[in-house]
Amino acid sequence: MARAKVSIIGAGRVGSTTAQILAYKELCDIVLWNRTAGTAEGVALDLNESAPIFGFDVDIEGTDDFSRIKGSAIVAVTAGAQRKEGMSREDLLATNSAIVISACEQVKRYAPKSKLVVITNPLDSMVLLAKSVTGFPRQRVMGMAGILDSSRFRDFIAKELGESVSDISALVLGGHGDFMVPLPRYTTVSGTPVEDLLSKEKLAKIVDRTRNAGAEIIRLEKESSAFYAPAASLALMIEAMLKDKKMTLPCAAYLDGEYGISGIFMGVPVVLGAKGIEKVVELKLNSEEKALVKLSAEKIKGSVKGLRLN
Ligand code: LAC
Repeated sequence: MARAKVSIIGAGRVGSTTAQILAYKELCDIVLWNRTAGTAEGVALDLNESAPIFGFDVDIEGTDDFSRIKGSAIVAVTAGAQRKEGMSREDLLATNSAIVISACEQVKRYAPKSKLVVITNPLDSMVLLAKSVTGFPRQRVMGMAGILDSSRFRDFIAKELGESVSDISALVLGGHGDFMVPLPRYTTVSGTPVEDLLSKEKLAKIVDRTRNAGAEIIRLEKESSAFYAPAASLALMIEAMLKDKKMTLPCAAYLDGEYGISGIFMGVPVVLGAKGIEKVVELKLNSEEKALVKLSAEKIKGSVKGLRLN
């Protein structure tokens, strides 16, 4: 059987790093689209030239021609301006809306059966825009954020405890912003609840650092925002779908009554498989967690008011 094709829109650092991970794992053929052909072609060439060393046999093509995404099983939209120091993700709304609209019109035209993953910020708004432009069913449109936020939470806990990152299971729900909802009650270290291992104060500090982890990196790097962990998170979603793994992962999903919320995308655990979002998992939240999720949803509802939806 021929390899599946995955297209990545935007050959910036997130897009090119995602392509690199997919190639190393020999998961699929890759089309890397950028509005400047040279950038996409250059990145593709560079990646191809690493293939003999790593030993991967996949086709990687760089292009500015949208028709090349035809037949993609999955399209990931990474294009857009990134935050600079002092900016919130919301400050990107106007600039990135135009970019996401034009990319999604082409996805609808050339890859109407694909599963669409959006990672452009402000994430929760951009993925709603993508659904509105493509008209794709909610099973096939999703946003990447929760895996990234959960990975940061897991890393901070692992470092605090001196444990392997693999021993930490954790979940962060809600919007990808200051109101995301890390869930210590659903966080375990080799099966032991993290609340038994870390004091309330230490956990509160880690939760706070997780909420601001994107900004922490921008503060350090000045001109750049994170891309290694975002790309790794996106690649995991793609792998789960290509291999039909049915992994439960936190992703931005369109809610239709789940968690008492409708009409927006928000981070919740979903089962990812060949069909895309095969199930939205509803966790039993306590009243405090419910209130935090509700607040996060209200913030998202506030931001999406600025969008012009179909
Ligand atoms: C972050 C940006 C990419 O969280 O949203 O690092």
